[in-house]
Amino acid sequence: MKTTEVTDGIYRLSANVTDILFESIWPIPNGVSMNSYIVKGTKAAIVDGVCDWDGVPETLYEQLDQMKLDIGDIDYVIMNHLEPDHSGWFDSFLKLRSDVTVITSEKGAELVKHFYGYDGDVRSVKHGDTLDLGDGRVLLFAEIPNVHWPETIATYDTKSKTLMPCDAFGSFGSVGEKMYDDQLDEADFRFFENEAERYYANIVGPFSVFVQRAIDKLKDIEIRIIAPGHGIVWRQDPGRIVGDYIRYASYGKGPAKTDVTVLYASMYGMSARGVAPVVEGLKSEGVTVHLHKIPETDWSYSIASVWQSSGVVICTPTYEYKMFPPMAAVLEEIGRKKALNRKAFRFGSYGWSGGAQKELDEIMERNRTNWEFLETVEFRGAPTDEDLSLIRQRGVELARAVKEWVAAGS
Ligand code: FEO
Repeated sequence: MKTTEVTDGIYRLSANVTDILFESIWPIPNGVSMNSYIVKGTKAAIVDGVCDWDGVPETLYEQLDQMKLDIGDIDYVIMNHLEPDHSGWFDSFLKLRSDVTVITSEKGAELVKHFYGYDGDVRSVKHGDTLDLGDGRVLLFAEIPNVHWPETIATYDTKSKTLMPCDAFGSFGSVGEKMYDDQLDEADFRFFENEAERYYANIVGPFSVFVQRAIDKLKDIEIRIIAPGHGIVWRQDPGRIVGDYIRYASYGKGPAKTDVTVLYASMYGMSARGVAPVVEGLKSEGVTVHLHKIPETDWSYSIASVWQSSGVVICTPTYEYKMFPPMAAVLEEIGRKKALNRKAFRFGSYGWSGGAQKELDEIMERNRTNWEFLETVEFRGAPTDEDLSLIRQRGVELARAVKEWVAAGS
């Protein structure tokens, strides 16, 4: 873990995690940073925790030494969000300090008890409550429910105008020596933007309405620094990540980018014969196309791609009278992530009976996705030349529909 000073009296403790599936689901080949913050007045508070899965108590001593703090000097543990990537260190911390005061929301207080069995001093705060740390340092709490869990709050330091919002405005991606936006070049920004887009689609996407509400709720607060629980700290241009999050949230209902994601699965290559023609049709209209083979592409990337695309092509065969199972799983999860209102088209093969289409309809209905489909092209066995020509034409039609939607929505 490394400690750096974010601004006068606020320190960032961070660890990169690289060898896990985040939430035991999502691959993080570039890692993820886990950030917590120590805020010092005459009293000191630690905001969220650093769960580096690697001996937090031992490294915490070293971190505190760098700040000239003893473990006994920490008066408050502020838990913005109880998901164990931020709170999981608390068990270990309690072995060092069993008498600390925990500050969290009312719902958070319930989880402190249920997750960690802590029956010490737990204080619930509501939107607008404050905590005076002395030396002119007053913390203000804002309820931002469902960004990412219902109990979530953000902590705002009124002295330095620093917002510590935990998951909000975060990203995947390990953070190295350059941890502040004022240290990054454009290539670094692109890296973190890509990581933020996938993080958003995988973790925060279903709660986009709440993201928009939270941003609205915070708009009257002057924010000079955003110090999230994952990713880089924004102290030069915090408006950049706020703008990005407004955009990511808007993708939920669409339109998103003028892009089309093609998700394709094929057992013996017959359905896949339609991929080249549909891509040709899409590209003839100038839209950007993203191709993902299912199940070879991890669903983390397929979901992120659909989140950012206004159009979706689904190429899938029938399997045992239903949809090819890995494709059904991906589409179900896309529905649960609430990627709504896409322009879409499906084609694919069947042997003895249909079935894929029926399951597709059920998934869309169950998740209320409200996707607008062009007429499906299904073929028995291999597609004929006429089928392939029709698939290409559907690609052209889909690209035109996407372009019109994006133009009308922007
Ligand atoms: Fe980073 Fe919802 O926890």
